[in-house]
Amino acid sequence: MLKKSDCPFLSLFLICFFALLSNACKEKSEQQETDPTGHHSLKSTFTDAFYIGAALNKKTLEGTDSLGLAIVLKEFNAISPENEMKWMHIHPKKDSFHFAVADTYVALGKKHNMHTLGHTLVWHSQTAEYLKEIRDSATMASHLENHITTIVGRYRGKVDAWDVVNEALNEDGTLRETIFLEVLGESYIENAFTWVALADPEAEMIYNDYNLWKPEKRDGVVRLVRRLQAKNIKIDGVGMQGHWNLNEPSLEDIENSILAYNNLGLKVSITELDITVLPNPWDLEGAEISQNFEGSAFMNPYPDQLPDSVQVQLARRYKEIFQLFLKHRDKIKRVTFWGVHDGGSWLNGWPIKGRSNYPLLFDRDYLPKQAYDSIVSLTN
Ligand code: G3I
Repeated sequence: MLKKSDCPFLSLFLICFFALLSNACKEKSEQQETDPTGHHSLKSTFTDAFYIGAALNKKTLEGTDSLGLAIVLKEFNAISPENEMKWMHIHPKKDSFHFAVADTYVALGKKHNMHTLGHTLVWHSQTAEYLKEIRDSATMASHLENHITTIVGRYRGKVDAWDVVNEALNEDGTLRETIFLEVLGESYIENAFTWVALADPEAEMIYNDYNLWKPEKRDGVVRLVRRLQAKNIKIDGVGMQGHWNLNEPSLEDIENSILAYNNLGLKVSITELDITVLPNPWDLEGAEISQNFEGSAFMNPYPDQLPDSVQVQLARRYKEIFQLFLKHRDKIKRVTFWGVHDGGSWLNGWPIKGRSNYPLLFDRDYLPKQAYDSIVSLTN
């Protein structure tokens, strides 16, 4: 029989073998701890490129969508409040602010060390009723200043970036006729940026809008930013909302806008990314958007599940878009999805109520889709 002393190398061999085995097991279990599904996370994928974020709705913030929240904590390092910081929710009456859900949102961001966006301070939509009655500029200015100063001051040092002004431009790049433009004139934009800077000098300040890939609207943003810069008013970034579809906008138009905004010395954020896979009623020439579309099989072609052929198209579209974002990683600060999973997307209800849309990276069962794999594979 072989004794230990007969073979001096045997003990050494066994010690080394068990040490290696135990190390391998430890590594495996550590990997499993951080990555139980076997997927890489989005935030680890893009860690050297830009923040990767998601908009959170009330259900996620109040804990009734715990699976959605679990995805956020695993995958994302930036958050946006889908609705809860809008004027009608946070400041519904002249002298009353409702901070409860916004406080929960900001605390979540800080607890998990996520880049936390404030959305949005000045927007013509979702304002409060009392604003609509104001006709004199001094009263309107004092309401706007109070709104901005109170909210930004409350979250000073906690909200990292603000969508200061949202959707102030028409499609041709001219200023949109809003209640603020009507009563205050175009100075409302510079005043808004100035008041945010006074309330929190460290916060990043963003102009945010949709269709910013369009050349005429792009020129409008350039004019708006130059006006601010000529007056030495601080603006840090442009937020390009990414409410796009499978074919439009072209990568070239997106790229030209990223370059144009970056040429102004600003960082670009892709702020509200989702890609609709459904037909758009406005593509139907001469057709009115009407109740007639609701329930129509043509306008809601995938009520139960997305066919594989469309999954593939969506994955391809996300992949090419993210390839472009990675190419311009030095100009892009953040890419944020407008929602967490398909079931929670606003696109199930707009522009036609009650459809099933599939615009995000996670499906209705909270599972990653092919689109997820297509972008995670880009840097792994
Ligand atoms: O909170 C009420 C709820 O009590 C009620 O039962 C329900 C019935 O319809 O409505 C709920 O309010 C809805 C709210 O979303 C929360 O779900 C509003 O009707 C609905 O108009 C609102 O839509 C939001 C929309 O902005 C208007 O504020 C969408 O969720 C939100 O995704 C969307 O986000 C905007 C960005 O802020 C700016 N850029 C465009 C983007 C898409 O429109």
